[in-house]
This record gives sequence, C-alpha cells and structure tokens, in this order.
Amino acid sequence: MFDDFLYNNPELYEKVFPSRGKSRLCIEIFQKYLTDPPSSVLDIACGSGRDLVEFSKRYSDCVGFDITPGMVALAQKRNPNLKIATADMRSCRLNRSFDAICALGGSINFALSNDEMDATIKTYQAHAHEGTLLIVQPLNPGDFFGELKVPEVFSVSYDGFNATGTASYKISKIQQVVERTRIWKVKDENREFTDSMSFRVIFPAEISYFLSQNGFEVIDIFETPGGPHYNMSMYVVARFRKQ
Ligand SMILES: C[S@@+](CC[C@H](N)C(=O)[O-])C[C@H]1O[C@@H](n2cnc3c(N)ncnc32)[C@H](O)[C@@H]1O
Repeated sequence: MFDDFLYNNPELYEKVFPSRGKSRLCIEIFQKYLTDPPSSVLDIACGSGRDLVEFSKRYSDCVGFDITPGMVALAQKRNPNLKIATADMRSCRLNRSFDAICALGGSINFALSNDEMDATIKTYQAHAHEGTLLIVQPLNPGDFFGELKVPEVFSVSYDGFNATGTASYKISKIQQVVERTRIWKVKDENREFTDSMSFRVIFPAEISYFLSQNGFEVIDIFETPGGPHYNMSMYVVARFRKQ
C-alpha cells in the first residue's frame, strides 16, 4: 500500500489535485480518433472515480479499478452504481475488452521497472480489441530531468485541515526513478509527519516502444500546461491493432 498521505485521504487528494478537465479532454480525443462514440470505457487506476463518473454520463458501459481501497471506497460511496473495483494494473484481468481505455493522472509512473511497465501495458492489451483507443497520461519527464520544475514547498487547506510542508526529490537517473519525501507540518495541532513514494520517469520514445511491443500504435503525443503542481502534462494516444 502507498505511504502517501493524500492517496489515503482521497477527498483531500481531490482538492490538492483537481481533475482539471481530464475527462473532457479524453472525450475530445475519442471524438477525434474514433468513428463512433465508445460503447465501453475502462479507466485503469481511476482513483476516486471522478473521470469515470463523467464518462458514465455519456457512455453506457464504463468500468474502473484502482489499487488504493480508500479511493475505490470514496468512488463507491458517492456513486453506488459505478462499476469500480480494487485491483492492480499490473495483473488485473476483467476477461473482456473495451472500445476505449484511459490510464490518467500518472498512474503508469508507478510501474517502476521495465517488467512492471510491460506488465501494466499487458493489462491494457488484455482489455483491448481491434481499434481500441488508449489514452495514457504519464507525468511529464521534463518536470524531473534537467532542472527540477516541481514545487518543493506546499500548503494544503481543506475542511479544517491546514498544513504546510516541504517535498524533496532524489532522482536516480539510471533507473529513472524519483523518490519523493514530504514533511508535513499540520497547523493548530503542532504535529509533523513524513510520507514518501517512488515513481518512474517515462520518456515518449520509451512508452511508445513498450506500447508497440504489445500491439498499440502510438498516433499522438502532446503536452498541456500542468497546473500548480506540475509544469506540463503529457498525453499519449494509441490504437490497438490485433496482430
Ligand atoms: C495520481 S492518482 C490518479 C488517479 C486518477 N486516474 C486521476 O487521474 O484522478 C494515481 C492512482 O494510481 C493508483 N495506482 C498506483 N499503482 C497502481 C496499481 N499498481 N494498480 C492500480 N492502481 C494503481 C493509485 O492508487 C492512485 O489512485
């Protein structure tokens, strides 16, 4: 399980990382690259299900899963009819396919090794059929290589919880793995705690290679402004071609 204060407090997570129109952008990508609206959508590592909820308003058959039970519980509490489960993107098999698959918000960056990245993309493959459109949103590698562009001080205020803190990043350039440690200082409680997580930095040609090895043809890679926490966001769009 993640030692991440925000993942384990999903309502706070949503405030700190608002969705910023991700689902709307995905819908535009579906409209651009699919002849018909997708009849089924799978949201892999869907977090608290906020994009899945938006997809469900338009498309009849939407399913999501995430490894963090608290995220799934919040999604289910809010939307009892949402089809959402707790499962691991490296191994989950729903034994069916979808017209569109999304993996948003940097979830693929938790595949730390090449084997984990391949296993994750094999999960995408296992749920694809001829023509399935895949949208993956890795963290933008430019935020971590060269000059670090992610913020090192932060503050969070939500529903009576007020905290400030510092984040430090240790980057192993050979493995392309970032270890982030945050020290939180909770105001009013005079309390301090630490959380940490590791994620892999992924470059465009690298993800394109892993996707192509698993039957996905990359048709677009583009960047959008990243908001207060990241400098830029990256989207990879690919189509599955059954070999
Ligand atoms: C930054 S959040 C993004 C959530 C959601 N996709 C969004 O864009 O709001 C990353 C999510 O990846 C999930 N995650 C990380 N590793 C995972 C794994 N191995 N299998 C499934 N979910 C995973 C986390 O639990 C977390 O909810």
